[in-house]
Amino acid sequence: MKLSESNTMTNLATAFANECQEGAKYQFLREKAESEGYDNIGKICQDHATNEMTHARIFYDYITNDGKDCVPNIDISAGYPFKGGTLIQTLKLMSGDELNQATVIYPNFAQIAKDEGFTEIGEKFELERSHYLTLEQLYAKLEKDCLFSSEKAIQWKCMECGHEDTKKQPWQVCPVCRAKQGDIGIPLQF
Ligand SMILES: [Fe+2]
Ligand SMILES: [Fe+2]
Repeated sequence: MKLSESNTMTNLATAFANECQEGAKYQFLREKAESEGYDNIGKICQDHATNEMTHARIFYDYITNDGKDCVPNIDISAGYPFKGGTLIQTLKLMSGDELNQATVIYPNFAQIAKDEGFTEIGEKFELERSHYLTLEQLYAKLEKDCLFSSEKAIQWKCMECGHEDTKKQPWQVCPVCRAKQGDIGIPLQF
């Protein structure tokens, strides 16, 4: 089967559109986090945004044969929800979207691609899992108000000057560069 005549081509276009809008949403979430003083969460959101644009590029390259071909139009139909709210609410909502994408939408696309003989593309649809886990951890830490505390001593690091210290709770204000607590990197576990 030719890719241009396959359902996989439409799914690639849907995934491309999805990754682009996810990239935009993570950039908006970065702004929201920063406006609430959480530059550290903002940095994670910006990393996610960059990841999503890289994913979009992977799908774009399949659609355009590495940028060599023109595809006049691909009609897609998909649900793209728009969910506003506070930082913590948005983290939870986006985590749900990531989970749905990783466990329902993309596995379905992967199976269709493999059934149509596009094994490599099928494997690419299975490429992301970690965003969901990261958002869930951030949400849980904010909800329990323990973004800046740990049951055992751990290493904290200032994102601005690199100052490090090992303790249960980090500094309110960096003792070296005076950066705020929201500039301390957040330790995540996988
Ligand atoms: Fe992605
Ligand atoms: Fe610092």
